[in-house]
Amino acid sequence: MSKHNECQDSGDPAATPQKPVQPSRRRFLQSAAAAATVGAAPHLRAQTQTPAEAPPAQANPAVPPRPVTLTINGRAYTLQLEPRVTLLDALREYAGLMGTKKGCDRGQCGACTVLADGRRINSCLTLAVMHEGENLTTVEGLATNNALSPMQRAFIEHDAFQCGYCTPGQLCSATALLNEFRNGTASTVTADVRRRPPQLSDDEIRERMSGNICRCGAYANIVAAVRAVHDGGGESSSVTVKPDFHRNV
Ligand code: FES
Ligand code: FES
Repeated sequence: MSKHNECQDSGDPAATPQKPVQPSRRRFLQSAAAAATVGAAPHLRAQTQTPAEAPPAQANPAVPPRPVTLTINGRAYTLQLEPRVTLLDALREYAGLMGTKKGCDRGQCGACTVLADGRRINSCLTLAVMHEGENLTTVEGLATNNALSPMQRAFIEHDAFQCGYCTPGQLCSATALLNEFRNGTASTVTADVRRRPPQLSDDEIRERMSGNICRCGAYANIVAAVRAVHDGGGESSSVTVKPDFHRNV
């Protein structure tokens, strides 16, 4: 018989080595759950506060729609718009001009590019009410008298699109690009920003069109189309740029 068994058999509690008391797993889980309930109680009480106890909610009063007159492609549109409506949504959802496309809706793809007084802008990043009194041009306004603009024709001749989703924005951007170049606006690849570049290089075209993403990857043909219109010397469209254009850039 082992020494250990001798102690257990002696009947003397003082002689029995005391094992540390180990709580059972069930007891441990029960006490943990109880502690969690106590800890969560204040939060639960806060959630069940009656409306009379809660601080009054700050309500944002709705701003009602008001008439906004936009001049789009030479025609006046009076639209009932809330101040928060973007120009892109005003064009598509209120004026019914669906040519301008919504891609990212956050200024990253260029699909929504339109011209405001000849200057290209992302219409998803600006509010419609800010453009009263401007001449807005969308892709629907590039053609005149049912004749495609030189840039539109060049895009077709150079196969500068596939699915066509980015094309309205590309066309507006390319149209403004040629006007900007003629007016002497520099880009980040212009060697000497104090003077107009002697020629519109492919690097200049790529840089100036870099805000317009084409998921089909038609970039090489888009550059070729822009180059063709530039080298042809033709106007890219009848869109005119305000004399103070440079001060707005
Ligand atoms: S939809 Fe405006 S930049 Fe993409
Ligand atoms: S042609 Fe398809 S995204 Fe440009």
